[in-house]
Amino acid sequence: MHTSRLHGNVRLKIDRKGKTLGTYTIAVLPGDGIGPEVTEQAVHVLQTVASRYGHIFDLSYALVGVAAINTEGAAISDATMKLCQQSDAILFGAFGDAPPNEGPDSKRHPANALYRLRKELELYANLRPIRPLQALLNASTIKSEVLLGTDLLVVRELNGGLYYGKPSEIRETSQGYEAIDTLIYTEAEIERIVRTACELARGRRKKVTSVDKANVLSSSRLWRRTADRVAAEYPDVTLEHLLVDSCAMHLIRRPTSFDVIVTENMFGDILTDEASMLSASMGMLPSASLGTRRTPHGLFGLYEPIHGSAPDIAGQQKANPIAAILSAALMLRYAFSLQQEANAVEAAVEHVVNAGYRTEDLREVGKKMVGTQEMGKLIVDAIT
Ligand code: IPM
Ligand code: MG
Repeated sequence: MHTSRLHGNVRLKIDRKGKTLGTYTIAVLPGDGIGPEVTEQAVHVLQTVASRYGHIFDLSYALVGVAAINTEGAAISDATMKLCQQSDAILFGAFGDAPPNEGPDSKRHPANALYRLRKELELYANLRPIRPLQALLNASTIKSEVLLGTDLLVVRELNGGLYYGKPSEIRETSQGYEAIDTLIYTEAEIERIVRTACELARGRRKKVTSVDKANVLSSSRLWRRTADRVAAEYPDVTLEHLLVDSCAMHLIRRPTSFDVIVTENMFGDILTDEASMLSASMGMLPSASLGTRRTPHGLFGLYEPIHGSAPDIAGQQKANPIAAILSAALMLRYAFSLQQEANAVEAAVEHVVNAGYRTEDLREVGKKMVGTQEMGKLIVDAIT
């Protein structure tokens, strides 16, 4: 099941005791649908970086999602959890559709893979950077003059809120069925994510927008209060508060006004699908999920495109591999502290898009349409 493979001219080290600097271990979890197709291209990019810059990426593949349920009986096995735990970084693809009667805390629910990885590995900070490429401004459904200059980072809380709050169930009462989900946050959970946002803002334009629904929700009132307290420790960072409905509106009205947005799990999920359209397609948006654990190389974490398994286009070479490839770039930057390499991958993506190549999701009149593999190959060839 966990096969370590030899990739290209990259030397594979099976014996991890002999690990040297420049050897990075990656758990690769392609998953279902378009997951394997886009992950394959991200792996090609990593192999190219390895051979051009002289690193060793030690890749171990494992199953997640429907593929894992069918062969191992669970969306993610304990052995795969262990493999991930022991790697320097995790590259995740996507997982397939869920049976309607089970929740993500069931082992046979495909989302259980992500659910466990995020929680058990304490990856509580989900970074979703949105910086529309100049060449794609016209491919977006939003006017280019509104998009021009957009560069924002959503810091989504990933370990709390409605996703993990208990009780969460459908139950039968004398009046019929009822259902409950629980939105719970501890002050400590809010504090650590706001701190992450403030730290990240320091390396950017020093503005944090904390998004909540404090006019209605108790959890949001605690969120706001805690955000104010934490941000006071960062006098160089400006904190503003925005209600989530208002944020949804302003994201497409004045996206350039945002720098770092910090918000709870569900709000972050919804707002980032919306915000992905600023960069023309969900197929462009990478993400990094981080905690506090460090490896000898950087921050331990999980890297995945924000899109799903898209079963309607799976196996047809229609998927855009850029979100997965940019996720690999984030891995190079955060997990391995390889800034130059990360920049080279991002520049390669931009170069290929500038040259007019597009996958189906970015279809534009007069542009050169290519499939998943071809897009991956073009980007690989552009890495200098
Ligand atoms: C995401 C996804 C997941 C989430 C789903 C697939 C469980 O939408 O990463 O944004 O809601 O977190
Ligand atoms: Mg989502």
